[in-house]
Amino acid sequence: MDPNSIAVIPAAHEATRSYDTEFKFHQDPDFLYLTGFPEPDAIAVIDPSSKTPYTLYVRPRDPVMETWFGRRQGVEGAVKNYKVDRAVSVEKFPADLAKLLDGHEVLYYRFSVDTALDQQILHYLSNQRQRRLKTAYPPHTIKDPTIITGEMRLHKSEKEVTFMQKAADIAGAAHVLAMKKVKPGMNEGQVESLMEAYMRDNGASGVAYNSIIGGGDNATILHYVENNMPLKDGDLILIDAGAEYEGYASDITRTFPINGKYSAAQREIYDVVLDVQQQCIDYTKTGNTVKGRQEFSIELLTEGMKKLGLLKGKTKDLIKKKSYMKYYMHGVGHYLGLDVHDAGRYFTDQNAKNSRPFAPGMVLTVEPGLYIPPDDKSAPAKYRGIGIRIEDDVLVTKDGNHNLTGKVPKNPDEIEALMQKPARK
Ligand code: GLY
Ligand code: MN
Ligand code: MN
Repeated sequence: MDPNSIAVIPAAHEATRSYDTEFKFHQDPDFLYLTGFPEPDAIAVIDPSSKTPYTLYVRPRDPVMETWFGRRQGVEGAVKNYKVDRAVSVEKFPADLAKLLDGHEVLYYRFSVDTALDQQILHYLSNQRQRRLKTAYPPHTIKDPTIITGEMRLHKSEKEVTFMQKAADIAGAAHVLAMKKVKPGMNEGQVESLMEAYMRDNGASGVAYNSIIGGGDNATILHYVENNMPLKDGDLILIDAGAEYEGYASDITRTFPINGKYSAAQREIYDVVLDVQQQCIDYTKTGNTVKGRQEFSIELLTEGMKKLGLLKGKTKDLIKKKSYMKYYMHGVGHYLGLDVHDAGRYFTDQNAKNSRPFAPGMVLTVEPGLYIPPDDKSAPAKYRGIGIRIEDDVLVTKDGNHNLTGKVPKNPDEIEALMQKPARK
């Protein structure tokens, strides 16, 4: 943080589902990263030059509210359990703002996340500015704290990697379970529920994002989350599902045959995607860049599409005209951490031109795919309606990388063998 600066970092609030019910609460990842505090409505104030640099404003204890809506740490619990220098009831926050912020040059605060808090901060600034700096000294400069927290979150500590490995292991085992249980006639929703039950049973707080369970041509819809169609003999199923453990996400995709055996056409596309995925995993190492990897995936997949007869022409031209986007329209991967699409910039300069090199401690997904629309007359008929993505989570290390999800089968022979096991009734 800058000299003479202060940061205000809010927790998330509960979000209304409808009328008087709420969605399951999910803590703001920046707030969770900095505080570990699990409750809604809190506000962390970080003032490095103060004798009490870390103040946490929290919901006060309230027997009636706690009877209805759940336990609270309160001021006492925050001090006792969360290593804060000072805890204060959040009800006092608006009245404390001037006392907290006046006299600092820089305020770290991200506008537009918490609009109610935005109003309080704007109200404070407008009040103090009206005093024409004669009797008050509000911060001149407001900076986005995610510039700092994004950088911190991008490079994972050993402890974070332990949590991420656990999130990967739980979700990985849920994928294996799906491979063993899927059969024609099941509904996508049943697969979703058995995987999510497994994750909860095994220590995950839940899913890291809404699972994508797409049978047949539902796999060609990138963010298909309806998950309510029957699974058909002869089709593939694409499952993109990850677990959340201690706040950290895993993000895994596997695509396999509903009846346990890939057709020749399915396998042709699968082999292309798998080969590209392995090469892109190998590429994810110290020194190579995020942009370089994206271009590498485009080049390899374009070659693959030519081999399959999906595209015709010179690779260079097809890339220049972005012809590949008809069948490969997303990024090859993203940062992974507390958010599934995690914090941290993908470039190192202000013009967003210089792509960031991979460095030890970064975790990225590797998830190439090919999606042939069911009505695409220009594609060979045997390929229409096939969607295949294979996704792993890779930790960059000093001398290469470690695939956190490397144990989840993706070799087609291995998947077929696993699906033949008697557990699949
Ligand atoms: N599941 C979202 C993604 O793969 O990015
Ligand atoms: Mn995914
Ligand atoms: Mn992903």
